[in-house]
Amino acid sequence: MTCDSNVKWPLSGEVKRNRKVTDNHYHLVLHAGKEYLSSSPGQFLMIRPGGRDVSLLGRPMSIYAVNKDGDGACVEVLYRVAGRGTGLMAQLKEGEMVGVVGPLGKGFTLYRDKKRVVLVAGGVGVAPLTFLAKAYRNLPETGSVEVVSYIGARSGTCIVGKGELGSIGRVSVSSDDGTCGHHGLVTDLFAKDLGVFEEDETAVYACGPSPMLKKMQEIMRDRSFIVQASLEERMACGIGACLGCVVRVKRGGYARVCTEGPVFNLKEVCFD
Ligand SMILES: Cc1cc2nc3c(=O)[nH]c(=O)nc-3n(C[C@H](O)[C@H](O)[C@H](O)COP(=O)(O)OP(=O)(O)OC[C@H]3O[C@@H](n4cnc5c(N)ncnc54)[C@H](O)[C@@H]3O)c2cc1C
Ligand code: FES
Repeated sequence: MTCDSNVKWPLSGEVKRNRKVTDNHYHLVLHAGKEYLSSSPGQFLMIRPGGRDVSLLGRPMSIYAVNKDGDGACVEVLYRVAGRGTGLMAQLKEGEMVGVVGPLGKGFTLYRDKKRVVLVAGGVGVAPLTFLAKAYRNLPETGSVEVVSYIGARSGTCIVGKGELGSIGRVSVSSDDGTCGHHGLVTDLFAKDLGVFEEDETAVYACGPSPMLKKMQEIMRDRSFIVQASLEERMACGIGACLGCVVRVKRGGYARVCTEGPVFNLKEVCFD
């Protein structure tokens, strides 16, 4: 793959903290440029652990939180160690520099007129949805928007983000192995409650692996809810140059997840 040469990789993020939060999840806090202060929920950054492996492509990570930090921004990422790149990220130490490019992509739409928002997260899909939940909570005019969250993971030890979302609204959890909460898929847990949410007053947001999003699409097919989903496709450049991240869309043709997404109207995406 040659497209990585299109991306400039200044070592522009300094690791402030990189803490293990479960067996294979980490919380990374970076000091980065002030451009991140304009990040919106659902946007992502490409990160490359600086100096550890120069052949490595950047890895896309959702922005979990952003705050002002001196003359720049404090950017937080929640990640699961899945392979080589995230394995290198897990070794990052305080004070090390990493390559980061962002904020990238199109994030979630905030529906200020809705009575309720429902978040459905699979695994680390909870990261952008937590950023979104906080954005709803911080809207000056909408103290009354109710935030209801569903978080699912393979096992209870892999559930992340419950405390933070729980401080904003009601949270239900599920685990595939039954070790925490509902025994089964998070989409089934969500589907059981679906009847109590008014379709015109509720916006639904989802983030997780493709099989989960496909299931969500099936559940929502004949319903009129607004449903936005953040897709977790593999990416190489992150800036629209390589076409490595395209998904087929129902209006015909393909869309680049990195530039036209990662957030899409779930009903518009083809999963097969
Ligand atoms: C917009 C976006 C936001 C993301 N946000 C987060 C986040 O906040 N936290 C987080 O932990 N992960 C997130 N991901 C997924 C993350 O980018 C991948 O897990 C990571 O790139 C894997 O890199 P690796 O080198 O560790 O694994 P690799 O060695 O490249 O692959 C290991 C395994 O992970 C699978 N994999 C690789 N890339 C992806 C991918 N993009 N999605 C799903 N599976 C993948 C491979 O098929 C393989 O099974 C996001 C992905 C996208 C596109
Ligand atoms: S990752 Fe290169 S076009 Fe999207």
